[in-house]
Amino acid sequence: MAVREVLTVGHPTLRRRADDVDPADVTGPEVQGLVDDLVDTMRHANGAGIAAPQIGVPLRVATIEVDRNPRYPYKPPIPLTVLVNPVAEPLDDEVVAINEGCLSVPGLRGEVLRHVNVRVRWLDRTGAAHDEVKRGLTAGTFQHELDHLDGVLFLDRVDDPRTLTTWESFERFHRAAFVERITAFVERVGS
Ligand code: NI
Repeated sequence: MAVREVLTVGHPTLRRRADDVDPADVTGPEVQGLVDDLVDTMRHANGAGIAAPQIGVPLRVATIEVDRNPRYPYKPPIPLTVLVNPVAEPLDDEVVAINEGCLSVPGLRGEVLRHVNVRVRWLDRTGAAHDEVKRGLTAGTFQHELDHLDGVLFLDRVDDPRTLTTWESFERFHRAAFVERITAFVERVGS
């Protein structure tokens, strides 16, 4: 178990499609060690999630956890979730604009449209299959992490580059309006 270096935008590993994990390997030492390192690194950096390519491992593995996150205090809690070979499909056309950041894009946030209702299927770290519907900000968090496995960063999905802000400018000029809008949204959709 270790806190690993987080690669930043421009590193080629962040831009390639990560490889599927052989389900027979999920409980083996390589994948289990990778999951431990992802959890340690995510928690150390106060990330809401992290994907294996962000620590230089081109495999389809990611972790998500939100528990009073200081980077995203408005996000509803998500218990620690380990995703192996996750697949997501939107359930309808409803989207919401979410102001996102990323450990691999230090210093910047920007507004991204995410599906509000998605079905996600994955294997957990024991190899057990999950098939769940995720909604709202939580659905957005899942879509962000799954994007990493396809070499996609939130920057690619920012429709209007004028929404890009530093974290400092977000706090000063945009946080209040965003939190007001997204809090009303979370109250409406439930997560
Ligand atoms: Ni990210």
